[in-house]
Formats: sequence, structure tokens, C-alpha cells
Amino acid sequence: MKTQAELKQDVAKAAFDYVRSRVGDKAVIGIGTGSTANCFIDLLAGIRAQIEATVASSEASAERLRAHGIPVFDLNAVDGVDIYVDGADEANSALELVKGGGGALTREKIVAAVAREFVCIADESKLVTRLGAFPLPVEVIPMARSHVGRELLKLGADPVYRQGVLTDNGNIIIDAHGLQITDARGLEERINNITGVVCNGLFARRAADVLLLAGQNGVRTLRAG
Ligand code: A5P
Repeated sequence: MKTQAELKQDVAKAAFDYVRSRVGDKAVIGIGTGSTANCFIDLLAGIRAQIEATVASSEASAERLRAHGIPVFDLNAVDGVDIYVDGADEANSALELVKGGGGALTREKIVAAVAREFVCIADESKLVTRLGAFPLPVEVIPMARSHVGRELLKLGADPVYRQGVLTDNGNIIIDAHGLQITDARGLEERINNITGVVCNGLFARRAADVLLLAGQNGVRTLRAG
């Protein structure tokens, strides 16, 4: 029986092979955040000389890439992102995601928005029939904390301030517990419309294009629709 850590390694290797089959040496590769993305970064180190450019979705991932000698560019310094590889906290069969457990949701969403192809990598424990068991992260301008908390209550959530955490953008995170998400796209838009919200961890308007899912019997490839 493989451990979750081994499954993360398996799916990172599958993503590595997938990326190499999809894009050439001149590609700009978007890099996600989290333990599964870290496995992917460590595999890229083996071909560092062939990598022209990456853009990172967090300071932590940028540091890890640089430590391996992999070139990291500001998103504004590249013409586009050919492929983006990132983990998730939850995914459904439409490849809608909950992300932001590591607090990097806003930059992740920006890189995903720019990317021509978004490849989500996860172990099979992340695949759910309904999103929401994992508390939905919401990045908030600090002065709007109470206001956003009250608005999330009105949406049926139990908002919990993530103590002691500041995002790479200098904002706070509120985790919205207890949501039973049936209309991910609608909820993503409603929460984004609360004044003071920077963004939330629902990736439904820009879902993944491909989900690589590691299980005990290998890595499956899921596509939306
Ligand atoms: C980071 O903010 C998140 O969106 C991560 O992608 C997500 O938490 C997955 O993390 P793991 O790969 O560590 O499970």
C-alpha cells in the first residue's frame, strides 16, 4: 500500500512526463505551490539546463526553484504561460477545484488565468463528489476582516480567521467552513463580489483542463466534460 507521500511522487512524475510531451524547451512553465508541486519542482531540477523559464505562484515555490538553479521570471516579464502544474485541496469530476490550503490562492489563480493549459496534480483522496468539506480559503484585505466574515455567515459559512498567516500579498485568510458547494461557479462569483475580498479558493470559472490523479493502481488522467 503506497503512502500519500508516495502517491504525490507518482503524480509529480506523471506531470513531469506530461509536460515534456506537451511543450518544447522554449516553454514558460507555471509552477504551483504545496507539497505535490514541490515534488514536481524537484523533478524539474534534473533537466534544469533545458528549462527556459518558469513563473511561480508563491515566494516559497520561487525560492525552491531558484535553489535548484531553475530560472524564475516575473509573470509580467513573459508573453504567456504555456502550461501550469499545481496541486489542489479538493477536485470534482468537472475539474472544479478548491485551492489555497497553503494560502497561495490568489497568485495561483492569476497564473491559472494566464496559462494555456492547467494541469492539476493530486492523489485520489482529493477527488470528491461535492466540494466544500475542505474549508474554502478566502484572501481578504486586513481591514475588511469582520465585514467579510459577516457576509460569509450570510452565505451559510462558518468563517474562521487563519491566525498568524499573512499571504505573499500582505493580506489575511478567512477559511469558510461548512459550505456544501453545488454551484461552484456561482459561489466563486458571489464571494469575489464581497467588498474586501481579494479572491477565493474556488477554481470553477477557470477550472483545470486535466487532472492527473494518483491511486494505488497508477495515475489516471481525467479531463473535464
Ligand atoms: C496552495 O495554496 C494550495 O492551493 C495547494 O495547491 C494545495 O493546498 C495542495 O497542497 P498539497 O499538494 O500540499 O496537498
